[in-house]
Amino acid sequence: MSLSPVVRLQQLAALLLAHQPLWRFHPFHCQQLPWAETYPALAELVTRLDESDCERLERDPDQLTALLGPLVDTDCDWLTLLAVAGLEKTVAPSPPAWLANGIGGRKWGQISAFAAAVDNHQQPLLEWCAGKGHLGRLLAWQGKGPVQSLEWQPQLCAQGQQLAVAAEVAQQFVCGDVLAADSDGHLAGVGGVVALHACGDLHGRLLQHAVNQRLPELWLAPCCYHLTAASHYQPFSDYWPSALRLSRDELQLAVQESATGGARIDRLRWRERQFRLAFDALQRQLRGVDAYLAVPSVAKSLISGSFADFARWAAERKGLTLPTVVDDCHWLAEGERRLLLVARLELVRHLFRRPLELLLVLDRLLYLQQAGYQVSLNTFCQRQLSPRNLLLHARPST
Ligand SMILES: C[S@@+](CC[C@H](N)C(=O)[O-])C[C@H]1O[C@@H](n2cnc3c(N)ncnc32)[C@H](O)[C@@H]1O
Repeated sequence: MSLSPVVRLQQLAALLLAHQPLWRFHPFHCQQLPWAETYPALAELVTRLDESDCERLERDPDQLTALLGPLVDTDCDWLTLLAVAGLEKTVAPSPPAWLANGIGGRKWGQISAFAAAVDNHQQPLLEWCAGKGHLGRLLAWQGKGPVQSLEWQPQLCAQGQQLAVAAEVAQQFVCGDVLAADSDGHLAGVGGVVALHACGDLHGRLLQHAVNQRLPELWLAPCCYHLTAASHYQPFSDYWPSALRLSRDELQLAVQESATGGARIDRLRWRERQFRLAFDALQRQLRGVDAYLAVPSVAKSLISGSFADFARWAAERKGLTLPTVVDDCHWLAEGERRLLLVARLELVRHLFRRPLELLLVLDRLLYLQQAGYQVSLNTFCQRQLSPRNLLLHARPST
């Protein structure tokens, strides 16, 4: 049975609030599982996961939820709570290959799927935060309306306009700041607005405009909820529970991908994390203080060298004196142990990623609903194409 948006928002918020110890902390600062006593069954299972298990589960959030969800909360029906119906639409008419030239395969997949969700109504469309306007170009090519693409960066506008001319489509770029006081002026006379992966305040402003001036239609795939000027989350709807106050850092969880899983591919980044964790263990012993000490960013050359050199550099920055001999093997092994711990902790935190993202999207949905819109929420593409695959579609209620 599907849940109403209000009930779902309440249940998601309750889930996040009930299990704050599992997601509200910095894995990088931990020496062991900080929640092991409160969640013994979860701790037992997670401790048995090796790095490749963690990577596999990071790549498959459904399996992650199926495995860990019941150990976290037996009363929660995770499947129902997180279910979002997919749009079954296919791109029509099917675009020629040349239109996708220069666009990565996954990006093109996202754009095509988003375009398929936009009905063919041949009204002027506004593309909000367009980048090079790939989405707008496809929509214009499909004859879904002349498109005006609003973008901040002049080079992107110029490149996008060139591409539009080459494709011979009705797409006009406007170089403008959506956060400017008068940015609602761009909405005058439009038949609909499309916004693909517009970040925090950028889509927040669009929602405010939609509420103030009743747009005929809106398609929004939000992204990067943490990119806001406010230090803490400013809820949109009246339904957001006051007990759930989220910092910018915490909001980032909603869009966070694995920092450890893919890092094996980027050896240098992986090694830097190992060095940092190894140094953290060393500095705790040296200072006799069991607390994390932030070390500034470091030149790549230092990461390619020995741990002892890195440790000397870091110790100098922090005003610490190292012993003459630093046991590389010992500290690197400790760094490696901590890396696995971080991977396990992040895995558990990521169990709450989709609940948080869904909660944030429902807050936006209810804000529009409260303002008299009829709003649907669907996924517009497979997670493999983009994990930011939630699409809000709004029309004024008749
Ligand atoms: C994440 S990209 C999305 C681009 C495009 N919609 C896509 O999906 O490929 C966000 C875009 O917003 C633009 N942007 C950032 N701040 C802006 C502002 N204040 N006004 C207009 N555009 C802005 C950026 O330059 C960037 O092109």
